Amino acid sequence: LRLVVLISGGGSNLRALLEASEDAEFPARVVAIGADRDADGLAHAEEFGIPSFVVPFGAYPDREAWGGALLEQVRQWDADLVILSGFMRLLPPAFVHALRPNLLNTHPAYLPEFPGAHAVRDALAAGATQTGASVIVVDDGVDTGPIVVRERVPIQPDDTEGVLHDRIKHVERELLVQVVLDIANGAVDLAALR
Ligand code: GRF
Repeated sequence: LRLVVLISGGGSNLRALLEASEDAEFPARVVAIGADRDADGLAHAEEFGIPSFVVPFGAYPDREAWGGALLEQVRQWDADLVILSGFMRLLPPAFVHALRPNLLNTHPAYLPEFPGAHAVRDALAAGATQTGASVIVVDDGVDTGPIVVRERVPIQPDDTEGVLHDRIKHVERELLVQVVLDIANGAVDLAALR
């Protein structure tokens, strides 16, 4: 399975996929890594010798133009699956429609709970005793697509946002690697999800 992973930040979930693909048995390879900015996580591409590309959001007149340029880059890699992993930009409909359903996103909450860019902070602010991690098929909404898998993560009373986010990320990575395995071996059919 040829994967293109898109990031905006540290790329710790990306790193988990890169480490998994070190195992010759793992049925997927990250063939390219993309970002909307000069993301710290691009260092993982360097370290693992994976081609990378940056399509800076600010370099385009609008979201549609940026999305078109990003899609053009992604398309060059003949990906079977594009994974948004800590990618913090909303993609224009044309990008989503071109790749759906082979476009996944990881989210640090138990969707549909706490969608959006501040899921971890929102769970804490809500006084929740548990949250979660989810992998979904990206649709036109914000974190509204079909859920591929999700798992509960406990919240401890003295959790800070950082501590809770790290606990969630550990689960996110496991889910992401498992979803890639399940898609590669046919256990999950993204086209069948609703
Ligand atoms: C992840 O929790 C992701 O779900 C969220 O932001 C975090 C990015 O972490 N959107 P990283 O860049 O993979 O370390």
